[in-house]
Amino acid sequence: MATGGRPLKGSIRVHGAKNAVLPLLAASILTDETVAVEDCPFISDVDAMTCLLSRMGAQVRREGRRIYVRAEDVVPAEDMGELCGAMRSSMFLVGALLARRGEVRVPLPGGCKIGDRPLDIHLDGMAKLGAEASVSAGEVRCRCARLKGADIVMRYPSVGATENLLLCAAVAEGRTRLINCAREPEIIALARALNAMGGRVRGEGSSVMTVDGVDKLHGATLVPNPDRIVAGTLILAAALLGGDVTVLGADKRDADSLLPYLPCMRISADGAGVRVVCDGGRMRAFEACTAPYPLLATDMQPQLFACALKARGVSRITETVFRNRFAHARQFEKLGAKIYLTGSTATIVGVDALRGAALKADDLRGGAGLCLAALAAEGESRIEGVEYIDRGYEGLEETLSLLGADIRRVRVDEK
Ligand code: EPU
Repeated sequence: MATGGRPLKGSIRVHGAKNAVLPLLAASILTDETVAVEDCPFISDVDAMTCLLSRMGAQVRREGRRIYVRAEDVVPAEDMGELCGAMRSSMFLVGALLARRGEVRVPLPGGCKIGDRPLDIHLDGMAKLGAEASVSAGEVRCRCARLKGADIVMRYPSVGATENLLLCAAVAEGRTRLINCAREPEIIALARALNAMGGRVRGEGSSVMTVDGVDKLHGATLVPNPDRIVAGTLILAAALLGGDVTVLGADKRDADSLLPYLPCMRISADGAGVRVVCDGGRMRAFEACTAPYPLLATDMQPQLFACALKARGVSRITETVFRNRFAHARQFEKLGAKIYLTGSTATIVGVDALRGAALKADDLRGGAGLCLAALAAEGESRIEGVEYIDRGYEGLEETLSLLGADIRRVRVDEK
């Protein structure tokens, strides 16, 4: 339940990135020694991943934000289907299990409903490394006696495929080059994690990575990058609602990447974090287009969309990464927003005011966008589908209310 109208003030520490922690947890089964993953958020996708690891036979122990994994032996379990079906990142287990065991059959990964999410780039890359890789009867099946390094040209810089292929290449025989690979900070975190485990990955953060396979990886402490999407969500919340918010642990480059759309933000940074100050007046309309890193992250699109709803003028947002990632647009309309969808472009005619409504989240980032828009609306809104938001935000409503927003979690039967 959210009631709009309050500016935000205060400081919040951002946790390790969901999209780094999940592949790091998968990497932890590449060795039979103990691996510690630092700064893990308390979110349901991390719970699902640790549950999958346990079901496969790994010993998993959580101490606060640190998760220890010891995978002396791991085998795909019979009861993985439901959890794999709920989460795209279960796909990392394909790469990790193929690398560790030479054979894997796991149920097809699911995830947020944000458009088609094929696996061809993952499977083509694994085939280049010598694996038989296919999808049949609702399962991903891969096998290979010994993976062999190869040059892999990726037709698109897929984040997940780059991560999966890094997991495989780390222990393949010989050298692998990943060409046109993804460059996200989460890729850098995984490359560094593999190197901490004794791997030999170079070129992380650029579009060609070289991996010299090693026979064995060892235990290590793995460190994710800070969650730039959570940080970005809070930065945009401050821009939209006005206020003075410091996101501790955030990287200034992530805030700067949002500045072209919302020049009303005053951004400063010291070693501890990023401070955003905004007067909360009506913003100017903007044009934005999502694309692979370092351009605008698709995971920020719904939150940025929320900022366009009351902007002065006509904004245009084009989604090039997941073409159907606009479910939130129909919900924004319930708040009184004026939106025209044509293919993968949304045209938003800014309105003077939004009014509270009953909303329904259909995916994680869309849900965050709904929270922001509801807080910018007059009166009360109810947002259903909070379980999607819980996949990637550690109590988003608590974070926002700590900053002064009027938002709280209610039970379904509560008025
Ligand atoms: N694609 C293919 N074939 C493939 C793989 C991808 O066509 O084999 C397409 C996808 O359909 C999509 C585009 O390539 O159109 C980008 O997909 P990518 O593989 O880069 O995304 P992902 O690995 O499935 C990760 C994040 C997403 C984030 C995207 C893009 C994780 C667990 N998920 O997904 O995060 O939106 O990269 O940055 O890392 C989220 O956190 O809410 C989320 C959806």
